[in-house]
Amino acid sequence: MCGIIGYLGPRNATSIILNGLRRLEYRGYDSAGIAILSNDGIHVTRAVGKLSNLESRLQQGGDSPPFATRDAPHSMGIGHTRWATHGGVTEHNAHPHLNDAGTIAVIQNGIIENFIELKGELQAEGIRFRSETDTEVIPHLVDLYMKAGMPFVRAAFAAIVRLQGSNAVVMMSAQEPDKLIAARLGNAGGIVIGINPDETFVASDIPGILDYTRNVIFLEDGEVAIAQAGRVSVYRLDGAPVSKQRHVIAWDPVSAEKGEYRHFMQKEIFEQARAVTDTLRGRVNFETGEVTLESLEAGVKNAEKFPARIHTVACGTSKHAGLIGKFLIERIARVPVEVDYGSEYRYRDPLIEPGLAVLGITQSGETADTLAAMSIGKARGAQVWAIVNAIGSQAERMATGVIHMRAGPEIGVCSTKTFLTSIVDQYLLACALAQRANVQTFERSNADPFSLARDLAHLPGLIGQTLKPDPIYEVLANYFHDRRHFLFLGRGINYPIALEGALKLKEISYIHAEGYPAGEMKHGPIALIDETMPVICVAVQDGVYEKMISQIEQVKARGGIVIAIATEGDGFIRQKADYVINVPAAPELLTPVLTAIPMQRLAYEMAVRLGCDVDQPRNLAKSVTVE
Ligand code: F6R
Repeated sequence: MCGIIGYLGPRNATSIILNGLRRLEYRGYDSAGIAILSNDGIHVTRAVGKLSNLESRLQQGGDSPPFATRDAPHSMGIGHTRWATHGGVTEHNAHPHLNDAGTIAVIQNGIIENFIELKGELQAEGIRFRSETDTEVIPHLVDLYMKAGMPFVRAAFAAIVRLQGSNAVVMMSAQEPDKLIAARLGNAGGIVIGINPDETFVASDIPGILDYTRNVIFLEDGEVAIAQAGRVSVYRLDGAPVSKQRHVIAWDPVSAEKGEYRHFMQKEIFEQARAVTDTLRGRVNFETGEVTLESLEAGVKNAEKFPARIHTVACGTSKHAGLIGKFLIERIARVPVEVDYGSEYRYRDPLIEPGLAVLGITQSGETADTLAAMSIGKARGAQVWAIVNAIGSQAERMATGVIHMRAGPEIGVCSTKTFLTSIVDQYLLACALAQRANVQTFERSNADPFSLARDLAHLPGLIGQTLKPDPIYEVLANYFHDRRHFLFLGRGINYPIALEGALKLKEISYIHAEGYPAGEMKHGPIALIDETMPVICVAVQDGVYEKMISQIEQVKARGGIVIAIATEGDGFIRQKADYVINVPAAPELLTPVLTAIPMQRLAYEMAVRLGCDVDQPRNLAKSVTVE
């Protein structure tokens, strides 16, 4: 997870930035860099590997004097820890990135979806790129606008407006040495700004600045801050000023980590764009679409890299992710997949034949039933793979091939970001398998596993859109929190989302909920429907949309209340359903990543309305280490 720190004030910028980066180290990184404004311009020092490498480069003089030497009353700089997304782990790909003249320095978190187009445009102007990163387009764009006569702040706005995707960006210019500009686009990267009377701090995460200040503001999607020493002005992208509420961060480390959120679950829901960006980083070449899953490939022998079939074993939410993975792997790679509960697989004497891979999905990596199922596979000669969040866990140690979720710490007992990241891991696995076997399965033109992988560049941005503030959740919680039963319906690749929606609701709000494949409704659950029964239908515009509409009509015909999760702009469904929650249009195979989010938000809102202990629901634990 990339880390961002910026400083502007009377203290030594270099040491404040290095300390901030150290506080963010726990999030992981593969290289780091710092840019400091000195009397003679911006000096950048970068190093691959640990922060200590960057520090020794700075102590040896690095590419610049180690400490800010400006005569001005303040010193200014920005620093970054990078996890590679575009381009390998090299010094020249580490941030900050500069324009040709070295007068503008930029750091960024996230994925710039339209960077190929922007890069082409800049190259046509004769600009040469020094890195393979998407970030480098930003300083060149700002430079281009400044050369056209715009002052720095206007040029920065003009460049930021052109970026598509979910990003957090911080930049500075030698020409305006009293300003840092920070922007948040979408939800892949947060920006928190700390303000003391004579100094200002910018960070991607609260721990980065907690040693210095507790007075902060948080940027929302589409906001740009112009930070000066001790003061900050915030604007929307269209230039309209925004008045921001200041927050005082609590002193205890747990509340501090929660930041602006009431509960960890809420925080974890809202950091999903960023979690998915981390899941993708370095694994997809967005220009060619090639997928590389290093930690899986490292452990798996060549002959076993394309299994004849897969048995996915998992529990709870991870099992639902596995059901979505079945669709993905079978559709994209044409490898047959069976999905079973860990607790069932271990006792059912499964058919384990040559060529089988047993894939355990587990965020904790410690779930007793999943581990037992994996070890049966191992004992009977299958190769064992794991999709896991907790590094060093038992599942990881048992598996020969591992794909990490990279969701970061998930504190809320209810799984949210680990669900999304484990779906994305399986999408990557499906593309990697298909690319290796050169499988072209889709009728749709251009939908080979390379272009399917390229679709992933848009995913953090789409997740960000799905996380936009929406009063519908509060409205629904107010109307329906006293209902004792809910039915969830979905079909095709979104059928497991109905199961997951029901699980989310029941585990944190203690309301009884059932999830069903919509076509099964007529075989029993339809008897439950009357005018008191809310039915949540996932009805996005995919291959089974018409089928879902006819299910909705059947529910309505029996007086049920329909809450539809539908594609933004679908006017037709508004005539059919009582309430509509929108998700943005997306390629069909990515829709479950988006439709899962309203399920989480709705369950959260209901549980809060009911006064439940959202982060620690009764009788549940984050790791179920017993049978
Ligand atoms: C639901 C939830 C549980 C877990 C299940 C498996 O929100 O968190 O259903 O998904 O206990 O846990 P892991 O993924 O750790 O194996």
